[in-house]
Amino acid sequence: MRRDNTPWRPVQPASLQWNDAGDPISAEFGDVYYSGDNGLEESRYVFLQGNDLPQRWRRHCRRHFCITETGFGTGLNFLLTWQAWRELPEPRPDLHYLSIEKHPLTREDLARALANWPALESLAAALIDHYPGLLPGQHRVLLEQGRITLDLWWEDVANALPDLASRGRALVDAWYLDGFAPACNATMWSRDVLRAAARLSHPQASFATFTAAGQVRRDLADAGFEVNKAPGFGRKRECLRGHIKRTAASEPATDTPWDVAGIVTAIPASALVVGGGLAGCAAAAALSRRGIAVTLLEKGKLASAGSGNDQGILYTRLSRKHSSLTDFALQSFRFASLFYRAMFQSGQLTTGLDGALCGSFHQSDNTAELDALGEVLTQLPDLAQVLDAQQAVAVLGIEQAGAGYWYPGSGWLRPVSVCRALVDTGNIEVIEDCGEIALENSTGQWQALVNGSAIASAPCAVVATGTAATNMQQLGWLPLQAIRGQTTHLPTTEVFEGLRAALCHKGYIAPARESLHCIGATFDLHDDEQALRTEDHQHNLDSLADAVPAWRETLTAFDPATLAGRVGYRCASPDYLPMVGPVPDVTAFLRDYAPLRKNARQTIAIEGEYMEGLYLTTAHGSRGLTSAPLAAELLASMICCEPLPLSRELSRAVAPARFIMRDLARNRI
Ligand SMILES: Cc1cc2nc3c(=O)[nH]c(=O)nc-3n(C[C@H](O)[C@H](O)[C@H](O)COP(=O)(O)OP(=O)(O)OC[C@H]3O[C@@H](n4cnc5c(N)ncnc54)[C@H](O)[C@@H]3O)c2cc1C
Ligand SMILES: C[S@@+](CC[C@H](N)C(=O)[O-])C[C@H]1O[C@@H](n2cnc3c(N)ncnc32)[C@H](O)[C@@H]1O
Repeated sequence: MRRDNTPWRPVQPASLQWNDAGDPISAEFGDVYYSGDNGLEESRYVFLQGNDLPQRWRRHCRRHFCITETGFGTGLNFLLTWQAWRELPEPRPDLHYLSIEKHPLTREDLARALANWPALESLAAALIDHYPGLLPGQHRVLLEQGRITLDLWWEDVANALPDLASRGRALVDAWYLDGFAPACNATMWSRDVLRAAARLSHPQASFATFTAAGQVRRDLADAGFEVNKAPGFGRKRECLRGHIKRTAASEPATDTPWDVAGIVTAIPASALVVGGGLAGCAAAAALSRRGIAVTLLEKGKLASAGSGNDQGILYTRLSRKHSSLTDFALQSFRFASLFYRAMFQSGQLTTGLDGALCGSFHQSDNTAELDALGEVLTQLPDLAQVLDAQQAVAVLGIEQAGAGYWYPGSGWLRPVSVCRALVDTGNIEVIEDCGEIALENSTGQWQALVNGSAIASAPCAVVATGTAATNMQQLGWLPLQAIRGQTTHLPTTEVFEGLRAALCHKGYIAPARESLHCIGATFDLHDDEQALRTEDHQHNLDSLADAVPAWRETLTAFDPATLAGRVGYRCASPDYLPMVGPVPDVTAFLRDYAPLRKNARQTIAIEGEYMEGLYLTTAHGSRGLTSAPLAAELLASMICCEPLPLSRELSRAVAPARFIMRDLARNRI
C-alpha cells in the first residue's frame, strides 16, 4: 500500500468489549475472537487439524513451512501452533507464521485476553514481550533461536494479500482463514482476497476455516481451491477445509515489475559473503541460520572499516509523515532492538563491554514536531516518548540542553563485538586478511578471486563491501558516496560518570566503555583525509559542550591535540536508504525499460533481469547498526524464497536497481 506523505500515526487498535467469562468481543464487528465454549480446542480442531498439522510437518520436505493467517487477533492460533511445533520431536521444519491484522489489540488487551489460557502462559509471555504494539507496518519477530519467524503485518488484508501475491511467488503451505463471520466482515472474504491467497499457495497448500458460508465456499472454489465440508466443532454444524487444486492465474501488473526477478533460482546450499563489517556479518548469520554454509571473505580484519568504531548508537528517526525512509527506519529499528536484546540475553554479547541497551535520548529543537509527535507517541511508549529537558534528567542521569525523544529500546553497541558474535557459529567459515576479492561467474558458480586465483566458490554471493562496492566490476554503476567521520576517544571523568543512557545531539556520547567514551562524529563529504585532525576533535568537544553546558568546563580542559580517535567512512546512497537486494543486469535493464525514457508513467510488464545468485547489502549510511539486521533478513528471505519482511513498496525502496529505474525515468541514462 502506498503511504508516502500520509500522516504517521499508530494503527487503530481493536475496540473490545469483554463478556462475563472474560473473553474479548469486537465492538466493531460484533463478533467473538474465539468460541466461548472451548476456544482452545476449537482453534486446534479448526485450524491445526483442519490443515493436518502437526502430522504434515513430519512429511514436509522443504526446510521451512509457511502458515498465513488472516486476522491475528489475540494470537491464540499462533500460540497453539507454536505449542504444537514445540511438542513435535526433531526433525521438523522451521516455522514461518505470517499473520495479517488490521486492528491489532493493544499490548494490555493482548495480555488480558491471553491470561485466559494458563496452559499457554510461558508462550503468551514471550509473545507479549515481542509484540510490536500499535507501530504501523510489517514486523518480523524471531523466536526459538530463529527457528520460528513470526511476521505481523498490521494492514488490511485487502491490501496485504494482493501486495504479497504481486511478487508472483508461491509462499504459503497452509492457510488459517480466520476473519470474523463473513456476514459481518465481507472484506476479509472478498473474491480478490481469496484469489490472492490462491496465487500465494504452494502446489500442496491447504486451508482451513471455521465458516461454512455458501458464498465463501463458492469463492474459494472459484479461486482454485478444492473445498470440503467437515463437521464443525461442538454445536457448530460444519466448517471448511481443503487444498489448492489449480494454479491461480497471475494478475496483470499494475506497476512495472522491475523488482521481481524473472528467473527464480534454487535455494543454494552454500554462499559467499564478501566484506566483514556489520552488513556482511549480519547477512552471513541470517543465511547460516537457514542452514546455508557460508564463507565470509574479508580483505583485512572483521569490522576494520566503517564498522570499526568502539561505540555506535542504535539510531532511528521519527517523522510526522510516512515515507520509505521513515518506515524503513522504524521497522529496522524495532527489529534491531529485539535482535541485539536476544544477543545480550543469550550471552553472545556482554552488557557494558559490547554495548548496552540502556536507551538513548535525541535532542530536538523542532518544537512543532515534538508537540505533534508527543501526542501520537502516547500510544507507542515502548518506541519513543517526548521529554522536556527536565524530564530527560530522569532517564539520562545528567542535565543537558534540550527537549527531545527518548527511545527506551535503543542504546549503544560496539560494532566489532557484534560482528564477531554474529559469525561465531559452526557453519560460517571466516577468512580474514584474504586481500581484495573480485567476483566472477563461471558456469553458475560465483568464484571469489584474489589476484586472479579462485579461493572459494558458491552458487550465491553477497557483496557487503561498504564504500568499496563500486570497485567490483559488476557494481561500478552504483551511486555511492563516502562520508568521512572522525570520532574522539574521551577518557571518562567523574563528571561524565552520571550518564546512564546514550545522548544524541549534533553528535553523540554513550556511557563509557572501559573508561573511554567514543564521541562523535564529524560529517564531511568529499574528504579523503585518513589522518586524525585536531580541529575535528575540537569540533566534537564543542558540539558536546553545546549539548551539555554543565560539562563545558571539563571539556575545555582537554587538549584536542593529545586525544585519540578514529577516522571512518560512512557509505551513503543519494536517497539515504540502504541498497539491499539482487544485483541487476544493467544492460538488460537499459534494454527492457528503455521506453521509460520517453514516458516514465507507463507500465512495462517485463520482470527484472538479475545476475543470478548475486546480491548486495551496502549504503547503510550513519545507521548500519540499525539497518544491517533487517537488511540481512530481507536478503536471506529473498535467497530462500520465503515471505519478505517488508512490503513490496519498501523492498523496492531499498532495491539497488531503483537507481537505474530512476535515471531511466529522468532520461539520464
Ligand atoms: C564516524 C562514524 C560514526 C558512525 N556512527 C554510527 C552510529 O552511531 N550508529 C550506527 O548505526 N552507525 C554508525 N556509523 C555507520 C556504520 O558504522 C556503518 O553504517 C556500518 O559500519 C556499515 O557497515 P558495512 O558492513 O556496510 O561496511 P563496512 O563496515 O565498511 O564493511 C565493509 C567491509 O568490506 C571489506 N572489503 C571491502 N572491499 C573488499 C573486497 N574487495 N574484498 C574483501 N573485503 C572487502 C572492508 O575491509 C570492510 O571490512 C558510523 C560511521 C562512521 C564512519
Ligand atoms: C476472529 S478474529 C481472529 C482471531 C485470531 N486468529 C486469534 O487467534 O485470536 C478476526 C480478526 O480479523 C481481524 N480483521 C477483520 N477485518 C480485517 C481486515 N480487513 N484485514 C485484516 N484483519 C482484519 C480482526 O481485527 C480480528 O482480529
